[in-house]
Amino acid sequence: MRNVLITGATSGIGLSLVEKYLQAGDKVYACGRNFQAYLKSSSLIDAEKSDKLVKIVFDMNHHDAIIDVLTEVESLDIAILNAGTCEYIDDAMGFDAELFERVINTNVISIGYCLQALLPKMKQKGHLALMGSSAAFVPFQRAEAYGASKAAIHYLAQSLQLDIPKERLTISVIAPGFVKTPLTDKNDFPMPMLIEPDKAADHIINGINNNKQHIHFPFPFTRFLILMGALPSCIWQWMALRMKRK
Ligand SMILES: NC(=O)c1ccc[n+]([C@@H]2O[C@H](COP(=O)([O-])OP(=O)(O)OC[C@H]3O[C@@H](n4cnc5c(N)ncnc54)[C@H](OP(=O)(O)O)[C@@H]3O)[C@@H](O)[C@H]2O)c1
Repeated sequence: MRNVLITGATSGIGLSLVEKYLQAGDKVYACGRNFQAYLKSSSLIDAEKSDKLVKIVFDMNHHDAIIDVLTEVESLDIAILNAGTCEYIDDAMGFDAELFERVINTNVISIGYCLQALLPKMKQKGHLALMGSSAAFVPFQRAEAYGASKAAIHYLAQSLQLDIPKERLTISVIAPGFVKTPLTDKNDFPMPMLIEPDKAADHIINGINNNKQHIHFPFPFTRFLILMGALPSCIWQWMALRMKRK
């Protein structure tokens, strides 16, 4: 039995990860604010009763709470820092600095506090995964806040990979394409190769089990974006500007 901690565990990809790790017999620390979905699942209720599931309630923007609650956690085999939010900048010329701050705080600054609390808890040869996005491979319109936050996470993960030996801890960055969750249900543009959260969780768990440092999926979509990111920026700019909203 491994000890697994997942942030953003109350819906979407995080919730699917919780269900799959519990099915595999692991103990799961599930972090989030709103655990309503857990009341509807008999398997999650049973897992909590048998102490296989521990719910940890905190807001990623409450830094003292992050440190307080996470220092109470046992030593960990796997931590997946998955919590995140997405808001778009609709008017670049009338830039909304508060929106930018909200997204950067929730998606990036909080990760620093999670790392401070959790890195000392990670077992030898454990695995730490940070949730990035394929949006970090190339710039998208209206993604000045979300895309920048995910690009920061990619850099952070890759820098940690240099500073922490793989024999001590495998650090991976996860870059999904489009996954059908409450976060993407708000999108008003076409989402090619959209996959279900269940499938996304399978890719992530498979990547972690195989000690992959870069976990990206679905492959045709992410490979295409990685290729685009490597080409002269004028090519991607030409394509991105032709993508229409619904
Ligand atoms: N869906 C996609 O296509 C896609 C693609 C690439 C990357 N991602 C990334 O995958 C991660 C999970 O997203 P999702 O698609 O599964 O969306 P989701 O269903 O909306 O889940 C987001 C999770 O993050 C938690 N969260 C958000 N703000 C929080 C806060 N201030 N404090 C504590 N927890 C907070 C939410 O918990 P509470 O509501 O309980 O607080 C929820 O559990 C995000 O980092 C997202 O950027 C998603």
